[in-house]
Amino acid sequence: MGTSGASRDGGSSGARLRATDVARAFKGVQALEGLNFELGRHEVVGLIGPNGAGKTTLINVITGFDRPTAGAIELDGVDVTGWPASRRARAGLARTFQQGRVFGELTVQENVELGALGVGAGAHQARARADELLSIMQLADHAKLPASLLAHGEQRKVAVARALASRPRYVLMDEPAAGLFESDISAFAEVIRSVRDGYDAGVLIVDHNMALIMAVSDRIEVLDQGRSLASGTPEEIRRNIDVAAAYLGASGVTAERERG
Ligand SMILES: Nc1ncnc2c1ncn2[C@@H]1O[C@H](COP(=O)(O)OP(=O)(O)OP(=O)(O)O)[C@@H](O)[C@H]1O
Ligand SMILES: [Mg+2]
Repeated sequence: MGTSGASRDGGSSGARLRATDVARAFKGVQALEGLNFELGRHEVVGLIGPNGAGKTTLINVITGFDRPTAGAIELDGVDVTGWPASRRARAGLARTFQQGRVFGELTVQENVELGALGVGAGAHQARARADELLSIMQLADHAKLPASLLAHGEQRKVAVARALASRPRYVLMDEPAAGLFESDISAFAEVIRSVRDGYDAGVLIVDHNMALIMAVSDRIEVLDQGRSLASGTPEEIRRNIDVAAAYLGASGVTAERERG
């Protein structure tokens, strides 16, 4: 390998989350096909694409909640394709769910502590991590409330805080900002950047809020029908006409046309 090639990723090509040639077929549906994906530490990658593109399936396959029908998942140079989700979590892979699961009867604070306890942290450490994250996520005022009392968007923030409490090397967020008010989006973008910078974690964020994706992503990957349609900086993606057709066509452009 040439020296210039080695320096492109800081010379530590092992320190990445990598999906190679991944496929996932459901009965009659090819949810992912021949997909290659990489996420470095200290990087925010936005993953976008129309409904059904395979975004959640990719997160499931990477985190071990689902098995690929072909291909491999590597975590910092280690092949984890056969590992169960719990083992991947302890190795530094965290995620949130599109349905934003919180334990409604537990307090906000207890929900976040679970993220730390789940990977073997002690009670004291779990409490300290929860306190810190609740403050960062501007949830401290709600710490003692049952999570079920929070608004939908706030519950998603609890789920993000819980994922971060495991001190992940990589965190994969499935529509974490859904349900947040537009006025809360820029504060949320700040949280994402601080995860990258302060926690030295790689962040994959799936979201339909393009303003958020454009604001936080170092790189954007576009999925369509289980395949990579485009990849580039936010600026490159913005200029990419195919992306506009595939992505906006499903959500924005068509609706605009029908309206107008
Ligand atoms: N458990 C499953 N059984 C059968 N089909 C599935 C299953 N999970 C996903 N699919 C199909 O795989 C395709 C990809 O789904 P996926 O949920 O990954 O899309 P997505 O990009 O996350 O969409 P959205 O933006 O709506 O969340 C879809 O056609 C979906 O219907
Ligand atoms: Mg999804």
